Amino acid sequence: MVCKFSESVLDEVADALVDRGYICIDSLFAPELVLKLRQKVFSEADDTFKPASIGRGNEQHRNADIRRDSIRWLEPGCDIDNGFLSLMDTLKDGLNRRLFMGLFDYESHYALYRPGAFYKKHVDALKGSQNRILTTVFFMNPDWQPEHGGILKLYDEDDTLLEEIAPTMGRLVIFLSERFPHEVMPTTVERASIAGWFRVAGSQHGF
Ligand code: OGA
Ligand code: MN
Repeated sequence: MVCKFSESVLDEVADALVDRGYICIDSLFAPELVLKLRQKVFSEADDTFKPASIGRGNEQHRNADIRRDSIRWLEPGCDIDNGFLSLMDTLKDGLNRRLFMGLFDYESHYALYRPGAFYKKHVDALKGSQNRILTTVFFMNPDWQPEHGGILKLYDEDDTLLEEIAPTMGRLVIFLSERFPHEVMPTTVERASIAGWFRVAGSQHGF
């Protein structure tokens, strides 16, 4: 079991991003790390997680019609968060070396979807904004069953359904932020994920 991005996985990710614009990878990270990340969500959810907002700056507002997850941003100062962030750093460097994407920094949040929660179809970056370039979504749900819901649906630019991705433990989805509308279907059980975005230098924080 690897717990970093090997050169061959980085090759695979780079090829997929060029060919299709997205990839889904399973079992990349050490199970102990995945478990710790999951425990972090459940131990802190009641204290530090806040209902997620949409929009930016002054326009930021909560809209429970659009999304119902609670989030906490990852912080490099925290050991467990850092385990995940340092892996994402190796992804950033590996992709910059291969594709000259100019990925510069990474922001990410834990998300807890309680039963009934969802996130309606959206795009993570405005076209041409150069804000969010590459999205990652990492799932931490052991023993996921189809009746649990919480599927991540990925669409193409014409809104044709491309993939229905189950949020299974240790699964990582990577896609170009501007190109793929996506949505989280309502979950029937608590559903944990980490959503993250690589940005280029000089772009603004937040959506
Ligand atoms: C997001 C998002 C998906 C997920 O936060 O923008 O699409 O499964 N999250 O957490
Ligand atoms: Mn999204």
